[in-house]
Formats: sequence, C-alpha cells, structure tokens
Amino acid sequence: MKRVLTGIKPTGHSHIGNYFGAIKPAIEFTQNQDNQCFYFIADYHALTTLENKQQMIDYTYDIACTWLACGLDADKVVFYKQSDIPETFELNWILCNVTPKGLMNRAHAYKACVEKNQEAGVDKDFGVNMGLYNYPILMAADIILFDSDIVPVGLDQKQHVEIARDIADYFNRKFGKTLKLPDVYIQPETATLVGLDGRKMSKSYGNTIGLFTTEEQLRKSINRIVTDSRMPGEPKDLNCTLFKLYSLFAGKEKSKLFGQQLQEGLGWGEAKKQLFEVANEYIKPMREKYFYYQNHRDEVDKILADGAAKARAIAQKTIQRVRKSIGVK
Ligand code: TRP
Repeated sequence: MKRVLTGIKPTGHSHIGNYFGAIKPAIEFTQNQDNQCFYFIADYHALTTLENKQQMIDYTYDIACTWLACGLDADKVVFYKQSDIPETFELNWILCNVTPKGLMNRAHAYKACVEKNQEAGVDKDFGVNMGLYNYPILMAADIILFDSDIVPVGLDQKQHVEIARDIADYFNRKFGKTLKLPDVYIQPETATLVGLDGRKMSKSYGNTIGLFTTEEQLRKSINRIVTDSRMPGEPKDLNCTLFKLYSLFAGKEKSKLFGQQLQEGLGWGEAKKQLFEVANEYIKPMREKYFYYQNHRDEVDKILADGAAKARAIAQKTIQRVRKSIGVK
C-alpha cells in the first residue's frame, strides 16, 4: 500500500492545463487499489498571494467543486482542507527548527523574488513576507504528516518535494528515525500542455482555457487560439496548438481523422469549431457536476468535514510519534 499525497493551492479558477496536467492523473492514481490517496486544498499556502477574504472563499470552493466534478470519490480518497488539520501547523513549527536557513535561501520562489528585486535595484527582500520564505517548510509538513510515499506534482514543485525529503532526513538525523522520506513523482503530461499562444499553458502567461466556464466562454477561448496564416485548402502542420489540444480531448481514432483533415487543407475556422465540439462534449458532464456542487456548498462542506476527520485521525498519530521523538509530552 502506497500513500499518495498532493495539494492544490486555491489561487484562481482551474484551467484545462491543471486538469490534464494534475487533476486527471491524480484521479487515475485513485483507481489503483494499492494506493491510498490524500488530496487536499492548500488554502494556507494561498495566503502568500491572495488579496482578500472573498478570494479565499471563492477559490477554495472552486478547487473543491473542481475535484468533485472531475470524479474524485470522497469515499475512496481522503479529501480535506489544509486549514482543518491543526497538526500541520504544529509539525510546521517543529520542522522549522531542523531546517537550515540556507536551504530556504535556495528555494526557487524566494530566489526568484530576490533576483527580481536585485534587477530593480531595491532591497533584496522587498515584498517578501515570512509566509513566502517559509513556504517550503509548510509544504514539508503537509507531506510528512501523512507519511507520504509518493507526491505527484508538476515540474515547478519538484524542488519543494526534494526539500521536504531533506527536512525529514535532517529531523531523523537529529531525533532518530521518525519520519518517512517522500519521493516526488513528476506528472509526465505537464511538459506538453500548450496554451492559446503555443507557449506552456499558464495563468502567468494569460493563455489558459478555463475548465468550468460557460459554453460561450469556452468557444471564445478556442477562437483566440493563435494559428499561422495558411488558408483553407492549404495543408496544415500537425505540430500546431489546435491539433495538440484536440488530441487531449478526443480519442486516438478521432484525432487521427482530424489530423488527416488538417493535412488535406481543413480551414482554421472550421478546425476551431471541431475542437470546440470535442472539448465541450468532454467537459459538459463535469461542468454540470461542478455547478451542482457550487450551488450546494453545504454538501461540499460536509464532504470536506468528513475528510478532515479521517485525515486528523492519522495526523494525530504522526504528531504523537514526533512529540515522543523530541521529548514533548
Ligand atoms: N505548492 C503546491 C503548488 O503550488 C501546493 C502544495 C501545498 C502541495 N502543499 C503541498 C503539493 C503538498 C504537493 C504536496 O502547487
């Protein structure tokens, strides 16, 4: 039995890059009987960037409803909100005391801020709060608390999982073998996900296609996909954004046919219509569930409360073990 754990930060609405890169593969993990999965909403991590209370509320429900709409079965998966697990924050403090400051200086999110400040000629720590600086330690606590074996994340989070492993190891060296060292698992899909402009799909590039928008918005996003200037009748290059996106939504057979049509000169306008059709067909049943949960937030609350109870029962055991190792009763 392997423990698989991952968290999503509620910092915005999910897009199809999040779906194919993280959510869908995470749901697939849950279908393997040998895995015990822990999926949570990292709401306290989002505090480093959120601007107000309403964003916290809306984005948290957005993530919760998204997971449920995408097929997460709360009976099989321990599904919870980070802020409901106080043991996380106790472990966070304990781990702070075995984490060298230099390790945090090298964490990429902090380093990126320092580099930006240096370029701008301002103090290197300008705009950096301790939440951002200690972010990797809180993430280590999330992971270590559940004795996680495998942590599936996108490439951008790889370093954080490696830091968690290092921190667990520092603890074990100082207080004796207590904590499990987690392994990172990189979701292979993330590298190939392209956005509207052909670059990697990312919120920071503004090139995303929202997952649970209205049909009309989905159509509009697809119409914004950048194409080359080849006219209808001219063969198209299959190394294009449109074809890549189509292949995500359609099966092999259908994609092959679509590819043939493009090579035979299908116009971009018509191709976009076809992409919309397959994307919409794929998303529609999930979208209905998503809006169902958004309109029944009390059900979502109940699911998360049940998840938190299951998670805490495990977290409390870990904390007892850790307290014993450090000599706290
Ligand atoms: N830092 C992750 C992100 O930005 C979210 C996260 C928080 C996480 N805690 C975690 C991911 C623990 C995996 C395991 O995407």
